Amino acid sequence: MARILVTGPAGFIGSHTVDLLLKEGHEVWGVDNLRTGRMSNLSAAGQSLRFHFVRADVAEEAPFNEILDEAQPEAIIHLAALVSVPESFEQPDENFRLNLTATHVVAEAAHRHGVKRMVFASSAAVYGRTEPFPLDEHCVTVPISPYGAAKLASESLLAGYAECFGLIIRSHRYFNVYGPRQDPSSPYSGVISRFWERLGEGSQPIIFGDGEQTRDFVYVGDVARANLLAATKPDVRSGVANICTGRPTSLNGLVQSMARLLGREVRPMHVAPRQGDIRHSLGSPKNAAVQLGFTASTTLAEGLQELFLRGDSGLRD
Ligand code: UD1
Repeated sequence: MARILVTGPAGFIGSHTVDLLLKEGHEVWGVDNLRTGRMSNLSAAGQSLRFHFVRADVAEEAPFNEILDEAQPEAIIHLAALVSVPESFEQPDENFRLNLTATHVVAEAAHRHGVKRMVFASSAAVYGRTEPFPLDEHCVTVPISPYGAAKLASESLLAGYAECFGLIIRSHRYFNVYGPRQDPSSPYSGVISRFWERLGEGSQPIIFGDGEQTRDFVYVGDVARANLLAATKPDVRSGVANICTGRPTSLNGLVQSMARLLGREVRPMHVAPRQGDIRHSLGSPKNAAVQLGFTASTTLAEGLQELFLRGDSGLRD
């Protein structure tokens, strides 16, 4: 059993990571400012005596160091972030604070407290418009948003900490993560949560463009497992890895999969393409397999089924 501190535990990926860590017997400290996270995501975790929650802003150095004084974690999984790409354009200062300053605060506090490992939530957004596919970690990174730029800068900062101070630091470039508890409320929320919500309301899913654009959809339970491995697996070394499936799915194909699950025809509504969209995004999962022993095991059909059974969307009512 290890003592692990998770930043952003009340978020979508954070809460699944916490649940898995607790299930595996670890003691978990969670630090969240509840800017976008929700306590309801932690309702299961809150039942455990091995879970300790602190409401605090990770970008503020003094309180975060005080929490570490008390928690004395062996590893930190740093997931707290400004999570919306459009918001990073609207609020660049807040993006810088939450997606870069906070990384510095966490890394420096980890170093000072003798924390041995750190896992960082990076993003496929660091690649921007880079081709060819599939994207591997040696591809040139050309972020096209303040969000992607801050994630890339954080990765570099952390690579320096790993090299200079001997911490083991893993940066995870998450691709299109989906699953229960993903917030569908904004037009910029993940497409799968948006489609489920529309179907749950009895309306048509809206596809921006012809629907032939593709994404690499990875199930949140797999992402949580990648985080667990990076924080706890013996003999893991520092590095960067895509967290993806290596399988492309078009939006039209996604709608068909949902229709099969529902056992009825689903006719999406096509509207104009979304400005700034990239056409295809596909990652190579090889590095994660070699460096971490991680392979995403949930197929899209299984992940959608799980989403359906857990019933976030009201589709079974
Ligand atoms: C995703 C990430 C983003 C990251 C980027 C990096 C999510 C939610 N976002 O953006 O943080 O910077 O990868 O590559 O995972 N769409 C529709 N209808 C909808 C909603 C979306 O057709 O109702 C389309 C979009 O136009 C896009 C595709 O679905 O073509 C995927 O969109 P989205 O889920 O927002 O993710 P990305 O844009 O890939």
